[in-house]
This record gives sequence, structure tokens and C-alpha cells, in this order.
Amino acid sequence: MKIGEGEKPLIKEAYQFSVAPMLDCTDRHFRVLMRQISKRSLLYTEMIVAKALQYKTRSKLLNFDEIEHPIALQLGGDDPKILSEAAAIAESWGYDEINLNLGCPSPRVQSGNFGACLMAYPDQVAKCIEAMKSATNLPVTIKQRIGIDNLESEEFLLQFLDRMDKAGADRFSIHARKAWLKGLNPKQNRSIPPLQYEKVAKIKNSRPKLIIELNGGLKTPDACANALKTFDGVMVGRAIYSNPLLWRQIDEIFFGDKAKTITASKIIKEIIPYAENHLKNNGRLWDICKHTLHLVHGEHGARKWRQEISLQAQRSNADLNILEKAARQLEDAGL
Ligand SMILES: Cc1cc2nc3c(=O)[nH]c(=O)nc-3n(C[C@H](O)[C@H](O)[C@H](O)COP(=O)(O)O)c2cc1C
Repeated sequence: MKIGEGEKPLIKEAYQFSVAPMLDCTDRHFRVLMRQISKRSLLYTEMIVAKALQYKTRSKLLNFDEIEHPIALQLGGDDPKILSEAAAIAESWGYDEINLNLGCPSPRVQSGNFGACLMAYPDQVAKCIEAMKSATNLPVTIKQRIGIDNLESEEFLLQFLDRMDKAGADRFSIHARKAWLKGLNPKQNRSIPPLQYEKVAKIKNSRPKLIIELNGGLKTPDACANALKTFDGVMVGRAIYSNPLLWRQIDEIFFGDKAKTITASKIIKEIIPYAENHLKNNGRLWDICKHTLHLVHGEHGARKWRQEISLQAQRSNADLNILEKAARQLEDAGL
């Protein structure tokens, strides 16, 4: 299947367009920024290790702003009991969905026996899904690869999906490339194994009732529109984080919302009250500002703007004046 130009289908459910979970990227501050661009898409948290929710850091890991809805909490873990407790906590915290990470191949995640390596243990994963389903009324979804190491046949993938479907999984986000658990680092595992959209399309074709989102390598709204002709949803990661404004029309294009003007300066102005609150709670301005850097790219003066905000917002006494000035500069530049 070729991903490219295409008509843009209107979609109804938030999950049909989602922003992928990304460690160190999709934290709560980025999600608030993303909400200035899209109110409708589904946002995922970074992966949270389920076991960590048993300790007192819970609020630091789980708190989010009301504006972030609809929001899915992504969990990492392999223990049905711990995951079911985490799912119940997530529901009480107000999350809209629980997602289990079966796609991350990092050595750290493997050493905890979760992430992509769990795809080799379908029975264990099924127990986790069943336990979470019985602990929460929220949708329990899966994010996975098309395979790992030599477990890469279509038959393996179908059996895996069937098993998880039987266990009660509500939806599948499939990163359309396999992961090599040894030999490639996580970054290489996001680019070296080739994308196989056709394989995911074949699976969707033979299991039309399964709700399948395509993930991996979707770089533009047009590519997403084309993918939505085949799949139930699309999930975009790097292309959104590295250039959020490229996606400023997604609510209009995909959800049929009224057109609105979204600019970098407007986004910064909108997040000032949120930043004020963060500073009041002893947060650092940089926690928020680091995500604003990708709002400008090749425009005249963009590099200088990024350098200035990086330098100033990382200072210990950084205050809101920095954001206010940054917004003014962008506005003056017509951005
Ligand atoms: C910096 C970074 C961190 C990531 N962290 C996670 C994570 O916490 N959980 C997860 O399931 N996937 C994670 N991923 C994978 C993405 O969710 C996504 O599957 C992958 O980047 C492919 O989609 P893309 O081509 O649209 O970026 C991460 C990716 C990146 C680039």
C-alpha cells in the first residue's frame, strides 16, 4: 500500500488520530502544548512503569491537566496483578484509556521483562490484559510491533492479535516494523527494520473486526488521510514532536471542526497561564520551554529565537517574562 496524497476522511473517535507515546517527549507539558494545536486527537503519556505506581511518587507520574483529555496512560509491565492495580489507579485518576507497551525494545525495558520482548509470551500478555480488563471499565489497548527477532511471520502476528482479542484487548496500535531485541538500539529499531504497511493492511483485511491503528513513519496529514482509508486509526510520533505546527489543521481536516488560526506566538501566549501555575508549584520554566523549540523551523530568525529561549529558560531564575518576550518576538515576525 502506498502512503501519500489522498482525500481526507472525516473521523469520529479520538483514537482515530493519536499522538504516540514518547519517553522524554510526550510529558504533560508537551501534551498541554499539543492541545493548543488539536483538541480532538488522543494523546498518550510517556510509558510509566506499572510497578512505580505502587510507590509514593504516584502524583508526579500521573497528574495531568483537564485540557489533556482524551488521554491514554501507557503502562509498562508484565505482572497481571501489578498491571491490574495500575489500571484501577489510572481509572481513579481520570484517565480515558489504558495502553500496554509491547513495542519498546530498549535493553532497560527488556531487563524488566516488558515492552517488545513480551510479544514472545502471548499467554503472559493475555493474562495481563485479562487482569486489567477486570480491574477497570476503561478501554485496555495494546501498542506493539509487527514482530520481534525471528517471530515475524504473518501467522505469528495473527495468532498474537487473536489471543489478545480473546483476552479482551479493545484496540491495537501497530508500529509497522519489527524490532530486533539484540544488536539494534532503540533509535535504530525505529528506523532500520523496514516499514511494512502492507503486512498490517493484510492483517486488517483478514481480521476486519479488530480495531487497528497504523503507526510508524507517517510524516504528513496527507499520509495519514491515505492510511485512514485502510486502517481504523493513525498514530503519529516523531513527525508531530519535531514539527507540531505542520499538524495545525488536524481538527479541521479529520474531525470536521471549524477552521481556526493557530500560530506559534498564539500557542506560547495560550500556555502562559499554565506556565505560571507550573512555576508556582516549583516547576522550572525549561520543562515547558523545551517543547516550544520545535514551533519554529526554517523561518528567518528562528534559530536565534531558539537559542535565546534555550539559554534564558534554563536559568534558575527563569520567569514568565521569557515566554512573554518570546511570544512578542514571534508575533512581530508574523509567526
Ligand atoms: C524519543 C522517543 C521515545 C519513545 N518512547 C516510547 C514510549 O514510551 N512508549 C512507546 O510505546 N513507544 C515509544 N516510542 C515509539 C513511538 O511511540 C512510535 O511508535 C515510533 O516513534 C514510530 O512512530 P513515528 O514514526 O510516527 O515516530 C518512542 C519514540 C521516540 C522517538
